[in-house]
Amino acid sequence: LIGIGIIGCGLIGETHAQCLVELGEGVRLFFDIDPARAADLAEKFGGKVAKSAEELIASPEIEAVYICTHHDTHASLAQLAAEHGKHIFLEKPMAVNEVDCRKIVDAVDRAKVYCMTGFKLRFNPLATRAKELIPKPTLIVAHILDDRWPDDSWANDPVKGGGNVLSQGCHAVDLACEFARSKPLRVLAEGGNLHHPGIDITDTLAMTITFANGTLANIVIADAGESPVVGKFSFQLMDGTHSLHLFDRMKQLVYTDGKTEKVFTEFEELGFMNENSEFLSALRGHRNPSADQHAGLRATLILLRAIESARTHQSIALDTI
Ligand SMILES: NC(=O)c1ccc[n+]([C@@H]2O[C@H](COP(=O)([O-])OP(=O)(O)OC[C@H]3O[C@@H](n4cnc5c(N)ncnc54)[C@H](O)[C@@H]3O)[C@@H](O)[C@H]2O)c1
Repeated sequence: LIGIGIIGCGLIGETHAQCLVELGEGVRLFFDIDPARAADLAEKFGGKVAKSAEELIASPEIEAVYICTHHDTHASLAQLAAEHGKHIFLEKPMAVNEVDCRKIVDAVDRAKVYCMTGFKLRFNPLATRAKELIPKPTLIVAHILDDRWPDDSWANDPVKGGGNVLSQGCHAVDLACEFARSKPLRVLAEGGNLHHPGIDITDTLAMTITFANGTLANIVIADAGESPVVGKFSFQLMDGTHSLHLFDRMKQLVYTDGKTEKVFTEFEELGFMNENSEFLSALRGHRNPSADQHAGLRATLILLRAIESARTHQSIALDTI
């Protein structure tokens, strides 16, 4: 067994613990700045509570660290884990500013540890199916449209969370890049703060990414209200002849070649389970996991450049990504 420790025992720390137990791996150590949360997960899933993040990371029992905390703590925890030679599962977004993202990538690259970013959407089977059905899309139309995030939630805090665009927009950007299979060249966006006056965040963004192969990805991200028919996540791919729509939390896909329609259905969302499975098999196989630190950096930098584009009303080159 790989010795795994989880830092951050909230909603997603618990989700990963559940997946790791179901995958037969389990969790050795838990840590949270709220000790009761760590104790709850240790009791529920087995394992012990560490006294500090440092103790968990330094423990000889621990080979890989899950970082499931708020976004402003990802960089320091990931740096510490890398310095101790521990592999990292880093919840998305990698961070909400470029300095933190680069610190993480530099530390991971320097230490030569494996690092996975938690881009669960791409691990749903119908995302893989979409890639197979339309391997060379010329047009990608995607959205992440959620119900309004409360003003006082940590994720809407400009420092701890960064708002919905930076928090979950990275899922859409990552998957669009995976579908395009090409280098992103530039981004043009409009948007701003439309629903959360007084909070320094971008809550609405409509962006277009142009890829080196000519593919265009049009992505809208907002907490303006969940989309009633297709739901929060929506990805449409077209190549001039074929088109498909992936929706209903990645559980339904409709594909057409212009004559015949095919419908594919999954009964549950499998992203969390499958990304954990990928992380474990990468560690066992001594290989870099899919959705590594460079994918984490790519998604957040594209979003940061898109926010800059919306502010300046200029197209921004993505040549430093
Ligand atoms: N992949 C997904 O679909 C998905 C969905 C929701 C959240 N997330 C991500 O998961 C991460 C955690 O989100 P959440 O919803 O579980 O939040 P949460 O508030 O439920 O849990 C976060 C926990 O981290 C703890 N914490 C904060 N700072 C800490 C520190 N320095 N050391 C140890 N513990 C600390 C908090 O006390 C809290 O218990 C975030 O990166 C978030 O964006 C991912």
